[in-house]
Amino acid sequence: MTLNAPDLSPLTAAAGGPPTGRTPLDMDGLAWILFGHAAFQYLNAACELNLYELLEAKPGLTGEEIGAELGLAERATDILLLGAASLGTLTVQDGRYQVAAVLSDLVKTPDWQRFKDTVAFEQYVVYEGQLDFTESLRTNSNVGLRRVRGTGRDLYHRLSENPHMESVFYKYMRSWSELANQHLVEKLDLSGSRRLLDCGGGDAVNSIALTQANPHLSATILEIAATAPITEKKIEEAGLSDRIDVKPGDMHADEFPTGYDTVMFAHQLVIWTPEENTALLRKAYETLPEGGRVIIFNSMSNDEGDGPVVAALDSVYFAALPAEGGMIYPWKTYEESLRKAGFDESAFERIEFPGWTPHGVIIATR
Ligand SMILES: C[S@@+](CC[C@H](N)C(=O)[O-])C[C@H]1O[C@@H](n2cnc3c(N)ncnc32)[C@H](O)[C@@H]1O
Repeated sequence: MTLNAPDLSPLTAAAGGPPTGRTPLDMDGLAWILFGHAAFQYLNAACELNLYELLEAKPGLTGEEIGAELGLAERATDILLLGAASLGTLTVQDGRYQVAAVLSDLVKTPDWQRFKDTVAFEQYVVYEGQLDFTESLRTNSNVGLRRVRGTGRDLYHRLSENPHMESVFYKYMRSWSELANQHLVEKLDLSGSRRLLDCGGGDAVNSIALTQANPHLSATILEIAATAPITEKKIEEAGLSDRIDVKPGDMHADEFPTGYDTVMFAHQLVIWTPEENTALLRKAYETLPEGGRVIIFNSMSNDEGDGPVVAALDSVYFAALPAEGGMIYPWKTYEESLRKAGFDESAFERIEFPGWTPHGVIIATR
């Protein structure tokens, strides 16, 4: 099974391309940034209308035929195709459309649904809150949360009050994890581990992958009470109820449970401030035995602070929406928190994962 999407750079190259920070910005690049939100709307509409699946199944359709298949009026079809072709997601020759190679490769893999789940997350969870990005920077706080109905103190504590958002979020979270956790399974040697504590483990997607790959391993998911039923359902569907359990609780307020040789934070330390991360890592340090390990698995930005661009773009969400602090931090910020929490820096390990998402893992040993 292919879990990683093909390199997306051909898409950007074919279309003139958005800027990457590696080449001097020109006016075309600046216009890409100016209308970046509209470029995304074309992608979202094409995904929701199944335009790429249609043309993958029936390459060479004309605009009129595409409109008829999608049930769109002529003007609407013209707009959609103007965007999809000019952005490089379709090619057109003699009035006949084909899916661009990068998408054609992707559509054939299980990663296509994961990509679409990510598009839906950007549209229905991320988009609106980003309107408050400037104010979030000014106040150093997640002002965009005001756009999410409910009273919970952060996005996660409001999801159960917004069922559509909750469903989009957990579908995406599973997919986003699956885009990278094959590398976690490959690179993380758990042969000496027996019990894993997965802090804020979501629907257990990563614990399921790790326990499936390591038959001697059992895991506990620490999750907020409102999410626990979603987690339990997925564990049951995976047939792992005898090896993975769920502990409803609050990782900030509660003591960490004891008896674990490995503590994992997967897509977790991107949400909180460095100070909160240090406090969480200190709790992990305190609960671990000598030789026990902490695993930080998420996207990382580089230590130079100038990329990769996906890390930068994803940071807008973490600045504006989920909780008061958070971003796609550079590797060194986590290492600093690990040092402050008591971990010995001579045993830190960084592993950068391949693929178009900027995922990686840091392993520290007590
Ligand atoms: C970004 S998701 C990551 C889910 C999962 N680790 C993954 O990688 O797919 C963050 C998760 O942390 C949980 N969470 C947030 N605050 C928490 C808290 N105070 N205590 C326990 N879990 C929390 C959320 O409910 C959510 O499921």
